[in-house]
Amino acid sequence: MSKLYIVGIGPGSKEYLTKKAIDTVENVEITVGSQRAIDLFEKINKKIIFNVKDLTEKLEESVDLAKSGKEIGILSTGDPGFSGVLNPIKRIAKEKNFDIDNIEVIPGISSLQLAASKNNISWDDANIMTFHGRENVDEIFEVINNNKKTIALPSRKVKDMAQFLIDNGIEKTRKVIVCERLSYPDEKIVKTTLEEVSKSEFTYMCVMIIDEV
Ligand SMILES: C[S@@+](CC[C@H](N)C(=O)[O-])C[C@H]1O[C@@H](n2cnc3c(N)ncnc32)[C@H](O)[C@@H]1O
Repeated sequence: MSKLYIVGIGPGSKEYLTKKAIDTVENVEITVGSQRAIDLFEKINKKIIFNVKDLTEKLEESVDLAKSGKEIGILSTGDPGFSGVLNPIKRIAKEKNFDIDNIEVIPGISSLQLAASKNNISWDDANIMTFHGRENVDEIFEVINNNKKTIALPSRKVKDMAQFLIDNGIEKTRKVIVCERLSYPDEKIVKTTLEEVSKSEFTYMCVMIIDEV
């Protein structure tokens, strides 16, 4: 059994890659990741590319390879522990009797961190939530009026999330910041209202910050 590294690659641009991530990728035998993630690295030994459809299959293959003695690095956007690859890998490792102590997480800068810092928000003053890949987002109503900002990865299109909040009684005039494609050249930070967001198109790559009341 060999080491399995889960490497956080940050929000997307090379500027936010850590030296530890680069060194880890240079040292492992095989790096597994999306094309976008793989492209961030100049030196890679062997690579396996996954896409949304074959992600689980490729993660399973990675654990099998690590079990057979290969050193593997799996790339995960942002930080692996925030709606990232860590949880699925832990589940697969358990199924395949891969010792969890052989997993090492290399932290990355999360989209949530960049969204907070771009807007001068201290985490102490925020509810931090992720709805990524989740159907039920009702948990947001437990915190949305608690006098803190809510920083969330949306579960669906940002406009649909905004409409859902309006439909469930949150004021249309509530201030919202949408942080889209953070760290990329076409990054957009839009300060607006819930109503405006519900009428606007954004890509799926967004962090939403809902103002406190
Ligand atoms: C699978 S989750 C991964 C989150 C990642 N582990 C993190 O810590 O940022 C993907 C979601 O993260 C958010 N995201 C990731 N990169 C982003 C970026 N550069 N700008 C804005 N949102 C981003 C989007 O909400 C996207 O749908």
